[in-house]
This record gives sequence, structure tokens and C-alpha cells, in this order.
Amino acid sequence: MTRAALAGLALLALAGCRGSRFIPPYGVTMAGNPEAGRQVVEARHCGVCHDISGVTGAAGVIGPPLDHFAARSFIAGRVPNTPGNLITWIRSPQSVDPRTAMPAVGLGDRDARNVAAYLYTLR
Ligand code: HEC
Repeated sequence: MTRAALAGLALLALAGCRGSRFIPPYGVTMAGNPEAGRQVVEARHCGVCHDISGVTGAAGVIGPPLDHFAARSFIAGRVPNTPGNLITWIRSPQSVDPRTAMPAVGLGDRDARNVAAYLYTLR
């Protein structure tokens, strides 16, 4: 490989990291629809517990604010912030940690994927 190609690869790698923030490749690994997910978040009242700027009435303080969620390294400090882990968390937080205070809201797989896609727009 030429030196120029190596430099190009290094630049790509850096751009992918956006500084020290890890941004999961949600568009590649999951087929979720962010706007549909935002509507699910609104309809299922995640905002009772979470502060989310883009969701009307979402000003809860029981759980952490979800703004900048895409930049988080871990989900609830428990597991790495990957699309698969996030979908699992959204569907069944207790399967990640039985002691967590977040309840299972009863989302199906499609809704959970859409919600995950929405949360990854929160940078
Ligand atoms: C009854 C309150 C409650 C509701 C309703 C609720 N959550 Fe949570 N959520 C929590 C709490 C509390 C935590 C922190 C859990 C922990 O650290 O164990 C949390 C954590 C999270 C996290 C991890 C945040 C981070 O900073 O790592 C995500 C993502 C999340 N919730 C998404 C949702 C979504 C999406 C909904 C709606 C479908 C929802 N939550 C509904 C209470 C709630």
C-alpha cells in the first residue's frame, strides 16, 4: 500500500471517530426509521422519565437525559453502546440488569429498532 493510501485510511478512521466520540454505524447495522422512532418515544411516554429536547413534553428527571445519546460509550453504564445492545435495552432493560429502575415498556422489535434509530440521531 502506498504512503498516500495509508494516510487516507488514517484520515477516514479519524473522521469515523469524530474526535473521541464513538458514533455507532446505525445506518449500516439496523433498518430503523428515526422519525417513526421519535413518534414511538412520544406515544409511549418515555418523556415521563427522560428529558429529550426533540420530543414534546419529554422533561422527565427519573432517568438520564437522552440528548447526545449517540455520543455515549455505554448504555446506562452497563453495556457498550451498540445498536444490538440498545435494541435489547429498549425492549427489556431487566435482561441487561435485573436491578435497573427502567421498566420494560412493552415495545415490539420494529418499534424498538425505530426508537434506536431515533436515539442515534441525538448527537
Ligand atoms: C419509569 C421511568 C422510565 C421510563 C418510562 C423509561 N425509562 Fe429509560 N431509563 C429509566 C431509568 C431510571 C434509566 C437509568 C437506568 C439505569 O441506569 O439502570 C433509564 C435508562 C435509559 C437509557 C440509557 C440511557 C443512558 O444514558 O445510557 C435509554 C436509552 C432509555 N432509558 C430509553 C428509554 C426509552 C426509549 C423509553 C421509552 C420507550 C424509556 N427509556 C422509558 C427510566 C425510564
